[in-house]
Amino acid sequence: MRVFIAGATGVYGQAVIPRLVARGDTAVALARDPGRVPELGGPQVELVEGDLVHGPVERLTELMGGCDAAMHLATAIRPGATGPDGANTTAALRTTGTRHILDAVLAAGVPVYLQQSIVMAYVDGGDRWLDEDTPFETAADRATTTSPVVEMEAMVRALDPREVRWCILRGGSFVGPGTAQDAVLERLRAGTQRVPGDGSNWVSFIHVEDIAEATVAALDRAPAGSVFNITDAPIRNGDYLDRLAELAGVAAPARDATAPLPRSFRCSSEAARRVLAWEPSAGIWPKTR
Ligand SMILES: NC(=O)c1ccc[n+]([C@@H]2O[C@H](COP(=O)([O-])OP(=O)(O)OC[C@H]3O[C@@H](n4cnc5c(N)ncnc54)[C@H](OP(=O)(O)O)[C@@H]3O)[C@@H](O)[C@H]2O)c1
Repeated sequence: MRVFIAGATGVYGQAVIPRLVARGDTAVALARDPGRVPELGGPQVELVEGDLVHGPVERLTELMGGCDAAMHLATAIRPGATGPDGANTTAALRTTGTRHILDAVLAAGVPVYLQQSIVMAYVDGGDRWLDEDTPFETAADRATTTSPVVEMEAMVRALDPREVRWCILRGGSFVGPGTAQDAVLERLRAGTQRVPGDGSNWVSFIHVEDIAEATVAALDRAPAGSVFNITDAPIRNGDYLDRLAELAGVAAPARDATAPLPRSFRCSSEAARRVLAWEPSAGIWPKTR
């Protein structure tokens, strides 16, 4: 297979590519500045220059020529960043970037398309299980994060599944090397990490190696027009942070009763396990002390 990958240089893309290479596939790996990462190229990895947000679509179409599949895994959330810059850039990648890549997919006649999305767009579920039919959060105060996700998914859903076999993969919060888990560990070691509220909200994580495995499974097995949560077993935030602190050999973080309890995402990945014949195996814990 020849597979176009936007986000090829990121933590997620870098977990997908070796799996494609091992199968004998060729990755057309998009980077805004390939000269920054020459080591990522190889006999089966064609490092190509392009930009999803700034286009032009003709360039993306040209790069997708002869591809059997395309995937949009690009975000712009720097590890540990929560500020507006990362959020705005990611919003542009989800809206303008998705429009551009889909226009190119259609123009180049690419028959398979995978879209990275997030379970963190769901409504606050409390202790309820959240599956793929759960509605997204629409409250105005969440709009900067959630509405680009809604818009992104709507554009993908508008594809004719007889023309493009599309699939949306709603990932949990990433863990593993190079993810936001690194920053949490640093804060735990520095003694600055707090548990908001009583820590009873649920979090659904996914190791980047596991979502990479699900992505390759979806390339082969996702039915046309499918949406899957890609998450490991959910855990309460307080339990997660306590265990992470224990593994790091530091004191458990204090509860901050004045901080509002974050939204709760107790997500089920039962559909992905059944339909994609996939299950997470890397776990959510760091390997080192
Ligand atoms: N579900 C989740 O929890 C989730 C999802 C995504 C990310 N994250 C977290 O966010 C953190 C860092 O991720 P990140 O996504 O910021 O950085 P990253 O891992 O470096 O990946 C960003 C990717 O998006 C690409 N990209 C950015 N802007 C682009 C554009 N305009 N056109 C084409 N490609 C573009 C980058 O390519 P270039 O080579 O061109 O820079 C890069 O491949 C990690 O901690 C990760 O775990 C979490």
